[in-house]
Amino acid sequence: MKILMVCLGNICRSPLAEGILQHKVGDKHLVTSAGTGDWHVGEKPDRRSVEVALRNGVDIADQRAQHFSPLFFDGFDLIYAMDQTNYDDLMKLTQSDDQRKKVKLFLEDAFGEAANVPDPYYGSITDFEAVYDLIDRATDQLLTKYSF
Ligand code: 4NP
Repeated sequence: MKILMVCLGNICRSPLAEGILQHKVGDKHLVTSAGTGDWHVGEKPDRRSVEVALRNGVDIADQRAQHFSPLFFDGFDLIYAMDQTNYDDLMKLTQSDDQRKKVKLFLEDAFGEAANVPDPYYGSITDFEAVYDLIDRATDQLLTKYSF
């Protein structure tokens, strides 16, 4: 299975989601991430994401930000939006029901209730820790739900 995590900048939330889920599923599946915005293309994840992940045994330092391309709709089986805006932006780019079916709001698929992974970019390290914990719990739920 190929799973894509999507946020706005691809430097804070989706790199964590990629790193955490990839760490949990190992080589069984491919997990990667992208941003709906292109400002940070080629950059490493935000150093606060790198630090919080590393403290939890997940190394995301080698990731580089990429911009979401509509070609990804056919290259991935599941596309997770970190928040409702990311979801809406992705949906606007879809061209078929098959593509639309792949796009899911991350926390809604995990917990059965629509919610956003809050953007920690303008926040503190505590906000990054909270995002890490939220994504960690959500990915546990998804592992149970789909037996990835
Ligand atoms: P992310 O956070 O979407 O979780 O990567 C952001 C990173 C950068 C910006 C916004 C959100 N930015 O405006 O540059």
